[in-house]
Amino acid sequence: MSRTGEQVSQSRRHRVAVVGGDGIGPEVIAEALKVVAAAGVVIEEKQYELGAAHYLRTGEVLPEHVLEELRGFDAILLGAVGPEVGRTDVPSGLLERGLLLRLRFELDLYVNLRPFVSTPGTRTALGTGPVDGTGLVAGIPASDCNFVIVRENTEGAYAGEGGFLRKGTPAEVATQGSVNTRNGVERCVRYAFELASRRPRHHLTLVHKTNVLTFAGDLWQRTVDEIATDYLGVERDYNHVDAACIYMVEQPARYDVIVTDNLFGDILSDLAGAVSGGIGFAASANLNPARTGPSLFEPVHGAAHDIAGTGKANPLAAIRSAALMLEHLGETDAAERVTKAVSAYLAEPAGNTENAGNAAGTPFPSTVAVGDAIAERL
Ligand code: IPM
Ligand code: MN
Repeated sequence: MSRTGEQVSQSRRHRVAVVGGDGIGPEVIAEALKVVAAAGVVIEEKQYELGAAHYLRTGEVLPEHVLEELRGFDAILLGAVGPEVGRTDVPSGLLERGLLLRLRFELDLYVNLRPFVSTPGTRTALGTGPVDGTGLVAGIPASDCNFVIVRENTEGAYAGEGGFLRKGTPAEVATQGSVNTRNGVERCVRYAFELASRRPRHHLTLVHKTNVLTFAGDLWQRTVDEIATDYLGVERDYNHVDAACIYMVEQPARYDVIVTDNLFGDILSDLAGAVSGGIGFAASANLNPARTGPSLFEPVHGAAHDIAGTGKANPLAAIRSAALMLEHLGETDAAERVTKAVSAYLAEPAGNTENAGNAAGTPFPSTVAVGDAIAERL
């Protein structure tokens, strides 16, 4: 259903910086933008070339003036950045630290929000059991997976604390610290409680390793305990990260909102992607909840150069990331309609995409065809 002219004119124009990036990035972002337009949201977009190809052409990773320009947008939509596997002319960590993490730090994107929802029709990575119309796979109903990871996104091991001593000698020392500030932990935990209080289950799990990381873990646990007093309606739980890896696979229904530090959140969200249907579905929002600048939305998957240009890239992670962007921009109705369109599409045989599992044995319909199918539903 398309919006009426009257409804469109009511919505604000949103200025969005678009970074397609490398590999399948531009392909999936094109579908995400198609869906946003079909949802009736008018965005004024500006494309930016950043990533491995841009670096190889220009030697630039994130020029100062581009960073300054990006600060002025309402949101940033990013596909994926990274070189082809095996290429050595883009040093490892250069784009990660110089572009992705730099944007997270500079724009103070302190929450990395990653929702994982299995809808009927998606296949989880849990074994190879039969898929039926109810979404039952390997004995686990897909509907059991409905949780959000709130990953702290500006601190922890990602802060880059550490260094070498006597590098290259037999007495070499390498240290890599984890930075956990009271303010950084608190604002992330508060966001997670707020989110849990608005979700039907009102449940929050802190995931950490408090038995070994006794300093950082203590700060996280104390912070959760303190903030909990402002959210008495939210039930809270704690899991060590290793145990969480078992529960997430065996009993994903345990989880509603998970709050965790940067590195645990990175690792757990790949596991969650696999458990809930495949990384081709996993969306993320790098949020600056204080809204002192734009937030950044990106699929969790990477550039996947091996399938770039083949039409095999699943655009649903990018489309779901765009839905998170719409929500952040206040286009709640459009966001909901996109999310529903994705779920409805997945529930029909044609929507059972190759890397999602395929009840009907239907081949993946192509990146563009998936985007078209979602757009048509709007
Ligand atoms: C992610 C990615 C990044 C991270 C990399 C590319 C730096 O894995 O967004 O999860 O580790 O955060
Ligand atoms: Mn990751």
